[in-house]
Parts: sequence; C-alpha cells; structure tokens
Amino acid sequence: MRKTIIAGNWKMNKTVAETKATLSELKELTNGVEGVEIVIGAPFTALESAVKTVEGSNVAIAAQNMHPKDSGAYTGEISPVMLKEIGVKYVILGHSERREYFHESNAFINEKVKAALAHDLIPILCIGEKLEERESGKTSEVNEKQIREGLAGLTPEEAVKVVVAYEPVWAIGTGKTATPEMAEETHKEIRDVLIAMFGAEAASEMTIQYGGSMNAKNAAELLVMENIDGGLVGGASLDAPTFIQVIKAGAR
Ligand code: PGA
Repeated sequence: MRKTIIAGNWKMNKTVAETKATLSELKELTNGVEGVEIVIGAPFTALESAVKTVEGSNVAIAAQNMHPKDSGAYTGEISPVMLKEIGVKYVILGHSERREYFHESNAFINEKVKAALAHDLIPILCIGEKLEERESGKTSEVNEKQIREGLAGLTPEEAVKVVVAYEPVWAIGTGKTATPEMAEETHKEIRDVLIAMFGAEAASEMTIQYGGSMNAKNAAELLVMENIDGGLVGGASLDAPTFIQVIKAGAR
C-alpha cells in the first residue's frame, strides 16, 4: 500500500527561532499520530535546526529546492550533498513558484529528481496546470508533459520512491480549492500516466499529493478520494494547531 504523506511547504516564511518554536509545538501535537508520514519544508537557513528540533518524533524535514550538482560554481545554490549532511529527508522540486518566478524547465527539474534519488533524498515533484490551461481544456496535456519530462529516464524501482504533488496553480494561495471530484479526476489521470510509464505495480505504490489551499476544513473530503494520497500544504501548515488538523485528516 502506498503511504499517505502530509507535507507542509513553508515557502519563504519563518526564521530559525520561529522554525524551532513551531516545530516544538508540532512535535508535541503529532506525538502518537499514526498512519501518516509528516513532512515540513523549511527554508534553507532553518533546515539544520529543524532536523534537530524534530529528532525523535515522526516529523521529517524537506528542503524546498536543490541544485542537481554535488558542488561547483553555482553561486547561491545548495546541493544534495549539503542537504544529506544535515539530515534532510525530502526535497520539494519543480514547485510552480520555482517554475514561474525562476524559470525552471522540466529538463532541469528532471536533473534534480535524478540527483535527489542518487543521494537518497525523496523528491516531491510538483506539477499542475494554470487557470488558462484548465479553461482551455489543456489540463491533462499539461500535467502529462510535466510528469513525463520530470520523471524521464527513471526505472520503476526509482519511480516508486518519488512523491508527485498535483497542485493546480489557480488553487495555490487563492483559497480556491479543486472540488474533491475535480481533484480525483486529475489524480486518476496522473496515475494513468504513471502506469503507462512505470507499470501498474509501481504506479500503485506512488503517493500523489494534492496541493492548493488545502486546509483544516477541506482536507478530509479531499483525502478520502481513492487517488489522493496526501497533501502539500502551504498557508495552513504555518501554524501547528491548524496543521495538526490537516495531518489528522490524513491519518489512516
Ligand atoms: P497553499 O500552497 O496551501 O497556500 O495554497 C500550497 C503550495 O504552494 O504548496
């Protein structure tokens, strides 16, 4: 059975002090919560103390981006080796904000996915269509391209380690969530692309998260759907008492 994973994406929020405070609170609240993998994507500067703060709990830490190379002349970038050294377990890759504001291509994101796997980091590959793409009937095509190019060259053994996060861009930070039925329809299509690429067995093991204004109110109705295996949560992950409600909605 595939894992349910609820991940928080803090984006460019929280200092080291704020990270420690929120994670200490979350550590208490998640004590004894079972049947769900809990992940927090903290900013680079707070990753090391985040890992230390959650030690001994069932919360894992993610980076929000990464360069594919181990080292070199890439000013301002962070490598997989650096993330591994401090105990980071997951890495969010190809978030729509990185695609939009930092012009990341599918080919570059694919290099990152491969580098993450080579370093035993779990990639969370974000995909999703923009509003105009949904409105012009291009949702399936856009998502299929992002998956095929983002996961190009992976074996089924590698693919099962990847988490896919479907985040319709029009739902991110807007308070507009896809309805559970609409999200499930797209998640099913995504699963079908994964089946075509890696076979039914591997695809059935892969976690597909939903992201885009998931919160304490709507999480349960989304997470009950057959192909929605978790969430990538922005705004509603910043506050521990709110986020624990989303986490509990995912606990199986
Ligand atoms: P949101 O962000 O939950 O604030 O919409 C989700 C994301 O961008 O991962």
